[in-house]
Formats: sequence, structure tokens, C-alpha cells
Amino acid sequence: MPSYRQLFLQHIGQTSPSPLLFEVVKAEGSFLFGPEGQNYLDLISGVCVSNTGHANPSVIQAIREQSEAYLHLMVYGEIIQSPQVKYASLLASLLPPQLSSVFFVNSGSEAVEGALKLARKYTGRSEIIYFRNAYHGSTMGALSVQGADTYRDPFRPLMPGTVMAGFNDLQSLELINDNTAAVIVEPVQAEAGIISPVNGFLRSLRERCTQKNSLLIFDEIQTGFGRTGSLFAFQKYEVIPDILLLAKALGGGMPLGAFISSSDIMSSLSFNPILGHITTFGGHPVCCAAGMASLKVLTENNLADEAERKGELFKKYLTNDLIQEIRGEGLLLAVKIKRKDMVLPLVFKAPDHGLLLDSFLFCDDSFRISPPLTISDDEIILACQRIDSLIESVSREN
Ligand SMILES: Cc1ncc(COP(=O)(O)O)c(C=O)c1O
Repeated sequence: MPSYRQLFLQHIGQTSPSPLLFEVVKAEGSFLFGPEGQNYLDLISGVCVSNTGHANPSVIQAIREQSEAYLHLMVYGEIIQSPQVKYASLLASLLPPQLSSVFFVNSGSEAVEGALKLARKYTGRSEIIYFRNAYHGSTMGALSVQGADTYRDPFRPLMPGTVMAGFNDLQSLELINDNTAAVIVEPVQAEAGIISPVNGFLRSLRERCTQKNSLLIFDEIQTGFGRTGSLFAFQKYEVIPDILLLAKALGGGMPLGAFISSSDIMSSLSFNPILGHITTFGGHPVCCAAGMASLKVLTENNLADEAERKGELFKKYLTNDLIQEIRGEGLLLAVKIKRKDMVLPLVFKAPDHGLLLDSFLFCDDSFRISPPLTISDDEIILACQRIDSLIESVSREN
């Protein structure tokens, strides 16, 4: 009998020549468990997905109840499905009044695609501005607004009419002009290695977009749902976008994405042509039920407020001499290592030390920490001890 490892390499489409290749049979709270009962502290949360922990009982219960009522009924948009309606209403109640209309899709990339189409349709303009080292997904439209050529060049030609600006570069905001349909930005850049906006940058961006009647799109696919210490990062920076993109934690561990705007802006997708943007599985009822249960866990337990304090705990207990800097907000952290050559070995050796870590797409001197927001103080201390022994062991071997 071939092992799962052999079958994985043989039959699963590969994303790199050297996958991490560790097997998980169960996940609960902050831990993943291997076939021999090994435990791994999950410091990644499926990249900011499992914010309320793995197998959260409220989420599992919601999935069970909804799957007994109905699964897929019909292509998104034309019939009333209560899990979508209830979740959209809950989201709207937590957002400013101009973010009241939710278009559910399946993933982050698909939310980006929808938002780009919406911006062009609403403004009648073509140009989209994006930022250096931005990551918005791997589909063609999303790739066209990705800020790193390494990932774009092999797939050209991309969507025309895109222009790159510099994140935190106030001067490059002058690129926003009368033909700019929208500017798409992560309020805190994640794959760039957790880069926060400098004071006033997002506010100036908002002002320039308003001045030029261009739509401002915030990609909060990674920063949303408490990750940076407030429910959404835009609330912390007090800058309201015209379109908000959500995915990852939106589904509480199930696949779900959304672009959210005002009813006025959103209505431009409903005519000329009708059905101009549709999706079969967008807003799947089970995913909406799971996401709504997860959001309630998040708000009822003040997990967003706690993220800030828990992030500080990591900073306090991660004291290894080889750590140069810990950047980030809340529980979205980047640990910069003095020896850049150690970063990938650290990620690959992490499972041997009972950890799951990850690197960044556009930052090769740091590794990522983004655990479930439900992680306990004791688990944070344990994680820091394991990271310390991991760093020591990798520095000896390399
Ligand atoms: C900021 C951001 N936007 C968009 C995406 C794309 O989301 P998905 O992988 O669900 O298509 C990601 C995924 O990592 C992301 O981090």
C-alpha cells in the first residue's frame, strides 16, 4: 500500500518542488495532531483562517444544523437563503452604513475579481492602481494587481490598465487621476512581511480617491476578523473604504469570500447586463452558517481586543539573540531573523519542534506568526519556548 505521502506527491497538484509534507489527522483549538499523536502548535491558522480556533464547537454545530436543512440550492443571488441573509445582516450591523451590501463569493481572489469589475462598471473608468509588494490572489485579475514581478512575469499578458504605486509613498498618490476606477490596497501589507501604513498614509489615500472620484478598495482578506486588534483594520486607522474585501476567516474555516459596498455602488452589477457577475457556489449556505457562528464567537469573546495583548506576549517571550525585530499588529506578526539563510530551514524544521510556521511571499528575512486568536497565554509561552529551541537547533545545524 503506498503511503499518503507517496500518493500526495503522485496525485496532488504541487505548488513547490519541496512541500512541507507533514500529515495532520485532527485539529482542535490551537493544535494540529499527526498520525502518531504528535502535536503541533498552529502559529499560522491556515493563513489567518482559523481565527476562532480549529473545530470550534459553535462552528461545528452551525455546520451540522445547516447541512441537515439544505446544502446548495441555486446559483448565488436570485433566491432567498436565510444563512446568507442573516450573515450579511450581521456583517452590515458591524460595519459603517456605507458598507451595507454584501456580495458573497467563494474565495479571496474571487472577491478581488468582483471588486475590480464593480469599480469599472460603477465608475465607467478603466484604470486600477495597486501597490508594490501587494498580494491579492492568484487569478488573472488579482495577479494583475499583485506588486511583485517574479510571480507575474511567467503568466503575461495580464489585465491591461493597471498602475503600480509605492506603499507608504505619499508622492505616488498623484498617480490617482481622472481615469482611475479604483485603488486596491491592503491596509496592513501582509505578504510584504507585515508592513503597517505610516501615519496619515491611508487618510491621504482616502482623500485623494475622494477628490478624483475613484473608489477605494481595502483588501482585508488577511487583516479582517480581529487579526490586527480591531474587528477590521480600517476601524483602527479610521479610514472607510468604498469596497471592503473579506475571505479567509469570513467562513470560520469553510470557503467563503465577499466584497461589500454601498447599495448604490453594488446596484451597478445588477443591470446592463443583468447577471453580469454570478457565481454558482458563492455564499454557500453551510459556509455562511459557519462564518456567522465564528463571527459571533469572535465578538462575544472580545477576541479582537485580546489580539493586541496576546501579540505583546509573543514580543515579551521571544527573546532569542538571533531575533532582530518583531513587527506587526495584534496577532499578525513577522519575526525578523539576523541570519536570513535560516528563515526557510526554520519553517521546514518547525514540525520537528512541535510547531507550524510559515514564510512570506515577498519578504525573505522574516517568518510569520498568526495563530488562532483563541490561543491561550500558556500556549503562547509554550510556542515561544518551542521557537527558541527551534532557532537554537537550526543555528547549530546551519
Ligand atoms: C491579502 C490577500 N488578498 C487576497 C488573497 C487571496 O485569497 P484566496 O487565496 O482565498 O484566493 C490572499 C490570500 O492569501 C491575501 O492574503
